[in-house]
Amino acid sequence: MVYVPAEDSYLLKKWVSKLSKGKTVLDMGTGEGFLAISAKSSGALSVIGVDKNVDAVKVAERNAKNAKLDIEFRYSDLFLTVPGSFDLIIFNPPYLPLENGISFENDYDLIGGEKGNELSIEFLRQAPNHLNHGGIVLMICSSMSNPFEIFNYAKSFGFNFEILEELKIDFETLYCVKFVFKG
Ligand SMILES: C[S@@+](CC[C@H](N)C(=O)[O-])C[C@H]1O[C@@H](n2cnc3c(N)ncnc32)[C@H](O)[C@@H]1O
Repeated sequence: MVYVPAEDSYLLKKWVSKLSKGKTVLDMGTGEGFLAISAKSSGALSVIGVDKNVDAVKVAERNAKNAKLDIEFRYSDLFLTVPGSFDLIIFNPPYLPLENGISFENDYDLIGGEKGNELSIEFLRQAPNHLNHGGIVLMICSSMSNPFEIFNYAKSFGFNFEILEELKIDFETLYCVKFVFKG
């Protein structure tokens, strides 16, 4: 299964479109390539999209080809196979907590760990090694998985952060957050 763009994707897309021009961009967990395509269409210098799901990589490649956009896609577990560093790193992560009846192994487009925020925290821990000077991260956080714990970790990793936009959907609030590395 490949994640179909949803409210979280559209919230992030709005800011990706505003902030991609002239930048080198990495789209972490690219899924169908929706945000990578948006970044490239908005004037990004270059875009790489990566995903742990090999089916997603294939679908994203096909979508970029159909859109006649030059974007590189590759398999990667977080930054494992990511080359170099970037001006902008985008991530709409899996952020739901593990619940009974859901298998982490088969639902890694949705589940971010036991509490839901573990993958986001690990991503932010590794991200500074792949950011150019003054580089930024744009990421979705959810009220379902303790975003304030993510913000505290981000500070300890050397990031300042700003909530760019909030979106309330029934009982959940999504946050589009900009993290700027101070180091
Ligand atoms: C919520 S979906 C977002 C997809 C797409 N970026 C969008 O916004 O529509 C999360 C994506 O992250 C990918 N993913 C999950 N764990 C990952 C990991 N450790 N490394 C890379 N990608 C991962 C999933 O396969 C899935 O495609």
